[in-house]
Amino acid sequence: MAYSFQVTTYDEYKEAYKKSIEHPEQFWEEIAATFTWKKKWNKVLEWNFAEPDVQWFAGGKLNITENCIDRHLPGRGDSPAIIWEPNNPGEASRIITYNELHRQVCLFAQVLKNNGVSKGDRVCIYMGMIPELAIAMLACARIGAIHSVIFGGFSAQSISDRLQDANAEYIVTCDGAFRGAKDIPLKNIIDDALVSCPFVKRVIVCERTDTPVSMIKGRDVWWQDEILKVQQQGSPDVPAEEMDSEDPLFILYTSGSTGKPKGVVHSIAGYMIHTTYSFVNVFQYQPGDVHFCTADVGWITGHSYILYGVLCAGGTSLMFEGIPTWPDAGRFWEIVQKHQVNVLYTAPTAIRSLMSFGTAPLEGKDLSSLKVLGSVGEPINEEAWHWYNEHIGNKRCPIVDTWWQTETGGILISTLAGVTPMKPSFATLPLPGVQPVLVDENGKELEGNDISGNLCIRFPWPSVIRTTYGDHERCRTAYFATYPNLYFTGDGAYRDEQGLYRITGRVDDVLNVSGHRIGTAEVENAINSHTGVLESAIVGFPHDLKGQGIYAYVILDEPKHDAEQTRKDILQTVTRIIGAIAKPDKIQFVTGLPKTRSGKIMRRILRKIAEGELEQLGDTSTLLDPAIVDEIKEGRL
Ligand code: WT7
Repeated sequence: MAYSFQVTTYDEYKEAYKKSIEHPEQFWEEIAATFTWKKKWNKVLEWNFAEPDVQWFAGGKLNITENCIDRHLPGRGDSPAIIWEPNNPGEASRIITYNELHRQVCLFAQVLKNNGVSKGDRVCIYMGMIPELAIAMLACARIGAIHSVIFGGFSAQSISDRLQDANAEYIVTCDGAFRGAKDIPLKNIIDDALVSCPFVKRVIVCERTDTPVSMIKGRDVWWQDEILKVQQQGSPDVPAEEMDSEDPLFILYTSGSTGKPKGVVHSIAGYMIHTTYSFVNVFQYQPGDVHFCTADVGWITGHSYILYGVLCAGGTSLMFEGIPTWPDAGRFWEIVQKHQVNVLYTAPTAIRSLMSFGTAPLEGKDLSSLKVLGSVGEPINEEAWHWYNEHIGNKRCPIVDTWWQTETGGILISTLAGVTPMKPSFATLPLPGVQPVLVDENGKELEGNDISGNLCIRFPWPSVIRTTYGDHERCRTAYFATYPNLYFTGDGAYRDEQGLYRITGRVDDVLNVSGHRIGTAEVENAINSHTGVLESAIVGFPHDLKGQGIYAYVILDEPKHDAEQTRKDILQTVTRIIGAIAKPDKIQFVTGLPKTRSGKIMRRILRKIAEGELEQLGDTSTLLDPAIVDEIKEGRL
């Protein structure tokens, strides 16, 4: 499969970019035409950011799994679609060819049908990083069900909130998940979540860790048993359901600046086209290359660049169940050598963590198969960039720093490997088809170079968020209402003299901890729910490994309590309510918070104190109680 839409020189990039601005519809239509459709679209694009209402390829009929799987069978049926590397080094890896993937997806699609799932139903998937996770997602897409994958690190409470929000009546999970030395009891966590979700009709449990689980009669069934039943009836070829371009493909929850996570909805055709197009261009993917994206499928990175983008391109995706530092910090490099990985796509937090082990874990590892290195999730600091470049890429692999978001579905700003310029800590240039704009607080567009502002996108790209599940108004206010006619990213950015973009971080109350998005309001709500806590405020602070750490200022109603025990209890509460990923790194007990006379917390001051900038706190005279600032400064951790 050659990719007609792959630009391979800087001149071609410039030409494609120009065309994509002047004739966006023609630009995207030519890309869309390379996919498999059951019926051609009526209209390329209809849009209105005020609603928002965006429709790409309306009237078109398709099924994404025909594009991910079926269309590759004639030529690439025996090629590996997924190479799976288990957590436990002693266990054999698995290679799943396109033929095998087709068989497995059809089998599980039939299992879903047998268990009552039909088109439009929401299916929650809470699994570890095993091929069955990919199979479950694709099986949903095959029959037109909407998957909502929840990352294995989220708590029962978070799962329950999401199940209720999506009204998901079906769950696919595992008995447990291996992650490094740990064994996470997924099914038990689901059972806890389901106490408050009596509407759930069926839980399909895939066996992985042999962790003891309780199976509730009439509700819970084993994946393996259900597959056997289908096989006994003769293996099915479940036809791909005919879907509309704009039918939802999945919901993925993400945090924002308010307390409740949002169910970001992506639609089928636009998401398929943008993820495939960006995958092929950013990584300069060549058929046969082994692509290793180290993210978890529970995040958007895994959806787009372990699964959909890679498979639609007929590529080979390496899926790793474990973590970079187990059984030792050489694990990634061992995998690269073992599976002859060509593209490595990881996060700055992982690079920094591996960097801290020095180069010893690299000794004796042959990394010569690598061609392209990628980074995603947060700004990559120069030190990590250079280490990645020198020690992993041996200075011969372009590094692509890919900027995007759950809401954008796919990469929007990035170097195209070896094609467009790269610059450490810069995401650089927009992909053809993407129109970034910098604006000031009033929404005035900032023209010219060497300038900073809030990052917006002017024109729809195919995989722009369509809605937030069950609450369209929230989608409008969060992304389309701040600046008229623009999609607002929530990020700040700098455009240098050459017009290259550097993302400078969130401008809202959202933290980026190890590349994961954490809403401060969510963490505050969790802490405030702990008995004895009166109020709290969360800010980020620079953290060597995580990028940003979580700093909590907490007011207790009875400050005499055993502080150490209370600290532990608060951590436990946050773990229960959100998950361990949201645990504060530091908790400082205070007797008050810096507030304006109108009662607004001055986060700017708290942020500065957490960062250790104690001198330049700005004007504190407008505070209700200026003395509190000195107390907080003194107690700083
Ligand atoms: C936020 C989106 C996109 C997949 C992973 C995170 C930050 C992401 C970069 C980058 C600087 C980045 C932004 C963005 N971010 N990539 N290359 N350089 N910042 O997805 O959880 O939706 O978070 O991550 O702040 O808004 P997400």
